[in-house]
Formats: sequence, structure tokens, C-alpha cells
Amino acid sequence: GVVALSSRAFAANDTVEHIIQSGQLRLCFESGYIPFEMTSKSGRYIGFDIDIAKHLAHSLGVKFVPVNTAWDGIVPALKTGRCDFIAGMTITAKRNLSVMFADKYMQVGQTVLISPKLKNKIHSYRDLNKARYTIATQMGTTGAQAAKKYLYNAHIDLFDTSADAVLQVANGKADAFVYDMPYNAIYIAEHKGQLVHLDKTFTFEPLGWAIRPDDFNFLNLLNNYIKQIQGDGTYQKIYNKWFKS
Ligand code: ARG
Repeated sequence: GVVALSSRAFAANDTVEHIIQSGQLRLCFESGYIPFEMTSKSGRYIGFDIDIAKHLAHSLGVKFVPVNTAWDGIVPALKTGRCDFIAGMTITAKRNLSVMFADKYMQVGQTVLISPKLKNKIHSYRDLNKARYTIATQMGTTGAQAAKKYLYNAHIDLFDTSADAVLQVANGKADAFVYDMPYNAIYIAEHKGQLVHLDKTFTFEPLGWAIRPDDFNFLNLLNNYIKQIQGDGTYQKIYNKWFKS
């Protein structure tokens, strides 16, 4: 009837419609991915990804709802509708088989933190590709993929969280930690002298928001929003807050 004609037709899985109806924008992330997604001392979620998502929610006139999720269950959480999108995920062809990604909002790559004991022996990540070395990283991440691909002769130890993985090196149980560049740069700044950062990235990794497959209305919204905040200074302001201190 008249109502049907005058209202927009939405697919049952349309996230945009859900955001409007619920008045909420729900972001899945894994707290601990410095400086994108963290938990403050008072228990609030903070970081680059959090600020951007809050700004987006504000721009849409809806409430921002943070959904902190274990990394290894983050795609299932999206797919079962516990949130609308995931932040802080490297866009890869393999992941693109199960989720869609909005355009990249940043570019990162893997670097390594090594034990200070190795600083005269290890000058590049390649020097770690030996059976006598143990590499720690987080399960299910591009760090784990890079370790398996480039450091196949080494022993690779996978942990549920990046914090547990990097601690192995600090405690002498692993020789090196492979992870995303911004994380490692900030970790080393906060733990001076404990580890050595080989800060040349050895992978190419666009970071994007993951959304459910066939979610084209939301994809369009996110891609246009990225361009808007990159043009109007919002992105730079939030970037400077978390990356330039
Ligand atoms: N670039 C890494 C990947 O996509 C990041 C993993 C980290 N985690 C996070 N909590 N967002 O695998």
C-alpha cells in the first residue's frame, strides 16, 4: 500500500536499517590492540578505533555501543549479529571470503620486537628463521600468518592475546614477538630497554572495517564516511591524539 511505497525497502540483514531501528551503532573490537582499542584504568574503552566509531555514531545521531570480543571469536560475533562491524582488522583475500571490508582507513605492517640479548645477532626478521629461535605472536592474526610464512624454520608459539605473547619475550621464554607496527612502536616506548624493535615493516597490511557479506548499504555509508573525515580534518585530529605523543 501507500506505506510500503513511501518507505525504503530493506533486506532482512540490512545493518543500516538495524542502526536506525535500534538507535545504536555497535562496534566489535578486541581490547588490547594498542593504540586502536584499549581499556583505560577506569574500565572505559579508549583508542583510535573507539574515537572514530564514536564520531560516526554521533554523525548518525545514534548511540555508540562497544562490544569487546575475544579475537578468535570476533568474526562469529559479527556474523551472528552481536555487533554491526569490526575494527582493527587487516584486509586479506582469505578473510574477504567470509566478510566484506570497507575501504582501508590505515596502513600497517608487521615488525619484530627481539630480546636485547639478540641485538648483535639479529638485524632483520629474516635472521630469526632458524630452528633455535622461538617466535611468539597472537593466534589468528596476520602476525601469526607472517611468522608461519617467513619464519617457518623457527618454533612458533601462539597466544590468545598479544599481551601474553609479548610477555614471553620480556620473560625470556621467546626470542621475538611478531606484531603490527603501531603496537610494537608504542610497546617499546613504554618499556624502554626491555626489548629491541626492528622497526622496518615486512608485510603490507591495509586495516579496514569488516562487515557482514551482502551488507551494501552499510558498505556505502562507511566508505563515504571515511572520505568525509579524511577531508574535514576529523581523521587527522583523532590520528594525532593516538599516534603523535
Ligand atoms: N592486523 C592484525 C590482524 O588483522 C591485528 C590483530 C589484532 N587485533 C585486534 N585486537 N584488533 O590480524
